[in-house]
Amino acid sequence: MSLDDVIRENWATRFGFILAAVGSAVGLGNIWRFPFQVGQEGGAAFLLIYLLFILIIGLPAMLVEFSIGRRTELSPVGALREFGGDAWKYIGGLFMLIAFLIMSYYSVVAGWVVRYFVGSLTGGYAEDPEAYFLTVAAGTDALLFHAIFMAATIAIVALGVQRGIELAAKAMVPALVVLMVAVAVYAATLPGAGEAYAYYLSPDFGVIADDWQSIIPSAAGQAFFTLSLGMGIMITYASYLAEDRNLAEDSAIIIGLDTGIAFLAGLVVFPILFAATIGPADPGAGAIFVALAGAFAEIRFGLVLGAVFFFAFALGALTSAISLMEVVVSTVIDEFGVDRIPATLAIGGGMFVLGAPVALDGDLVLIDLYDQLAAEILLVTGSILLMVLVAWIAHDRALDEIQRGVGDIGSLGQIWIWLVRVPVLLALIATLVLAIMGYYEFLTGPFAEWLAG
Ligand code: PHE
Repeated sequence: MSLDDVIRENWATRFGFILAAVGSAVGLGNIWRFPFQVGQEGGAAFLLIYLLFILIIGLPAMLVEFSIGRRTELSPVGALREFGGDAWKYIGGLFMLIAFLIMSYYSVVAGWVVRYFVGSLTGGYAEDPEAYFLTVAAGTDALLFHAIFMAATIAIVALGVQRGIELAAKAMVPALVVLMVAVAVYAATLPGAGEAYAYYLSPDFGVIADDWQSIIPSAAGQAFFTLSLGMGIMITYASYLAEDRNLAEDSAIIIGLDTGIAFLAGLVVFPILFAATIGPADPGAGAIFVALAGAFAEIRFGLVLGAVFFFAFALGALTSAISLMEVVVSTVIDEFGVDRIPATLAIGGGMFVLGAPVALDGDLVLIDLYDQLAAEILLVTGSILLMVLVAWIAHDRALDEIQRGVGDIGSLGQIWIWLVRVPVLLALIATLVLAIMGYYEFLTGPFAEWLAG
């Protein structure tokens, strides 16, 4: 049974669709990338801009993808060809490229998560969490666990997603929430929690004034990344929808759940970071692992809690990874008529190779090279193109689609179209320019230094 069959089967219920979309959305983006971005970009000031992006741009962008998918009932390349005309199919090609790039390093970080699950069972990180991270994050361990995670994703996508995966997601998303609440309650008792909340929750507008050039593209990139937008996943998922659903309401529920889980992760991570006196200012891609491991090593039954936490975390990553790989595999099957198993093996193998340098880089520079390009530049570009298509070219079809299942929404539809046409697009284009400038700085700064050794 392929993912498509499972999706068709399960989309019979609204819950099934919402769950699958939440499964794709909730992952490393919420528990790893979000706190790491908040830390790098100045705390609550970033949080505020991020929430604005989620509401003002994430919601319309998700509606755009849903309306294209449900209208065409096709995967991205075909969907764009039908919705926009032949030339638009190349954008589907761009989406494949983005998925390929994201999955390559996503699997490396997910490998760390699996490694930390094992480390909780063996107590490996209890001695010296910092040294532990350095030994497992890059080198043979990292490569091995990158391979394990990639192989697990390949196996599921190649064999088709069994009902068990969806059932697991159904069990694990609530389990993840319960665990995060428990850890957040524990985190509240740590010394320095008050200071951490202040950092996380009360915005310092001075920071926005000083750093808006980097806060804005980071916040936008994070919004698209965490909602799985900008590369056609939500097009694919909506292509399996029944007709009578209210797309706007579903988007709001999915976005609400994803944002809630990310917010909760911040309530866990910041008190722990402050207590470990790592400080939030430059946590980097690894500090969250070091800090969480340090905390689990200290509390009573912490390793058990750690094992459950990292297990839930790994499952969240797996449901996202499946959607990342499946979107490429299903398109290759549709467009080139390749069989599922060879297609999955070749694509997964390629993703592994592309991610291998990241797994071998102990300086954690390559991960920024990949991640900034994918999230801040490519996902934003993908969304801009989709919005141009829907708001300027195929708006009648899009409006028609959104009203299916809702009824006549009157002038609200026009307001939505005009919102996307001008302010949303302008904001995104400005964001993209800032992102490209930031990336250039990164390439000529830290990356150039790293290259020079
Ligand atoms: N949204 C997923 C997460 O937050 C990652 C992802 C990005 C999945 C893009 C699919 C597409 O972990």
